[in-house]
Amino acid sequence: MANNLTLKDKISTVFKQMFTIKSADELISASKHSELKKTLNAFDLIILGIGAVVGTGIFTIIGIAAQGGDGGVAAGPSLTISMVIAAIACVFSALCYSEFASMIPVAGSAYTYTYATMGEFMAWMVGWILMLEYAIGNITVASAWTGYFMQLLKGFEHVLPNWLVNPPIWLINDYRTSLAICSKEGLNPHDVMPYLFGVIPVSINVPAIAIVLILTLLLVKGVKESTKVATIMVGVNLFIIMSFIIVGSFYVKPENWTPFAPNGFEGIFMGAFIIFFAYIGFDAISTAAEETKNPQRDLPIGILGTLFLCTVLYVSAALVLTGMVNYQAIDIQAPIASAMRFVGHNKLAGLISVGALAGLTSVLLVYQLGTTRILYAISRDRFIPKGLRRVHRHNRTPYVLTWLSAIVVILGSLVMDLKISAELCNFGTFLSFIIVCAAVMILRKTEPDKPRAFKVPCVPLFPILGIVMSGGLMLYSMTSLKTSSIWFVAWLVGGVLIYAFYGYGQKRLEEKRKKFYLREKDN
Ligand code: ALA
Repeated sequence: MANNLTLKDKISTVFKQMFTIKSADELISASKHSELKKTLNAFDLIILGIGAVVGTGIFTIIGIAAQGGDGGVAAGPSLTISMVIAAIACVFSALCYSEFASMIPVAGSAYTYTYATMGEFMAWMVGWILMLEYAIGNITVASAWTGYFMQLLKGFEHVLPNWLVNPPIWLINDYRTSLAICSKEGLNPHDVMPYLFGVIPVSINVPAIAIVLILTLLLVKGVKESTKVATIMVGVNLFIIMSFIIVGSFYVKPENWTPFAPNGFEGIFMGAFIIFFAYIGFDAISTAAEETKNPQRDLPIGILGTLFLCTVLYVSAALVLTGMVNYQAIDIQAPIASAMRFVGHNKLAGLISVGALAGLTSVLLVYQLGTTRILYAISRDRFIPKGLRRVHRHNRTPYVLTWLSAIVVILGSLVMDLKISAELCNFGTFLSFIIVCAAVMILRKTEPDKPRAFKVPCVPLFPILGIVMSGGLMLYSMTSLKTSSIWFVAWLVGGVLIYAFYGYGQKRLEEKRKKFYLREKDN
């Protein structure tokens, strides 16, 4: 009978299959067999959230946004307004994430929510896009980690051996950065880097790889153990930022706040786009849904609480930073530590480097956790091989996927630099925010009566504002960031091809198997 189908029928069947949704109940019931341990409460989630959010953005990117960086437009003291704009863009999406997380508390975050509203193809694409946010974003953080780690070692120059404090550039950078350093310093790359077969430059960021390996071992051990480490890191991190805000506020000179917005609205909006990276991560909380004891209540508290605390912290830090140092003199490599050095607090400046390392470590940890939990949900649906979902017999963690995510970050860190990976991470996050906002509106229509422990107020206005703000920032940045825009499109095409040649077929096989099983059971 199948052979009698016309081409039109076949195309219509494929389309129908591509947009088949999995109902919220189906998703929840599939996760009931989850082997993941439920150990997290609202406090753990806020710790995870702050651990995922506070890192590269506040310790590094704040300086670029305020000062303008290389040829960029400076926000100056008006960065405080940029931060509020970026936070508002996030809050609409955070509300939408909270509604979904309280309604479908299943690992997989935006991937799962899309499956419930837009069907399997879009769900797979969102899962694939989320890998940009999590795995590729982690390449940025791992590279920044090496920067601060080397800065910390330099503080012990007189005690540590020289080979450790000043290693060759090819052992602490990716090859693009090593080549860029050579060109900036007028060095011949062949003199300072090894070459494979005489043509391929070799540059391995050893500290970044080492920290990823250490955190992977920890994550394989257990999620509770990982949040314990994250709690310590977050504690150190928050203590350091608060010390900066309190001590720094005594050195604020109000004249540094004039002119408040040296580049007007252009500076404010560019600042908002750049500093958006600092807020990315609150959505990572929703990936731990299956490991949360009371997800309906705790997930919205975790997501919105994290965003609120981070906004207060960021705006205060930006006010103090731009008040301590004239915006044009802000250091773009280590802005917070340098500001302390500027006012003569060298010891506190050293401590800030330790805080930055703690912050970056916790971001790495939570992102690594997020990557594996999303892949876990994707493999449950067969879009990637089922065998990858294997859970450790003793620790009950998805160890194969945890190692796979580590390998992706390690390989990525060999070929991508910090800037490209950060921009790709931003694009991926913008797109997933837009899709989640749209999905909330769809589910309100398709499942209006389903109980929601948390509801986004003012629907459709709030989700639409979320789409407009994220979409606007994304399109605005795409016009000027050509290289990463091309990578982004290539990534999307890659996702479509994997679905066409693997995922779609596997899904149909699974359906056939299910039908066969049900028939056998009836007989
Ligand atoms: N928000 C995270 C950071 O700033 C990605 O490192």
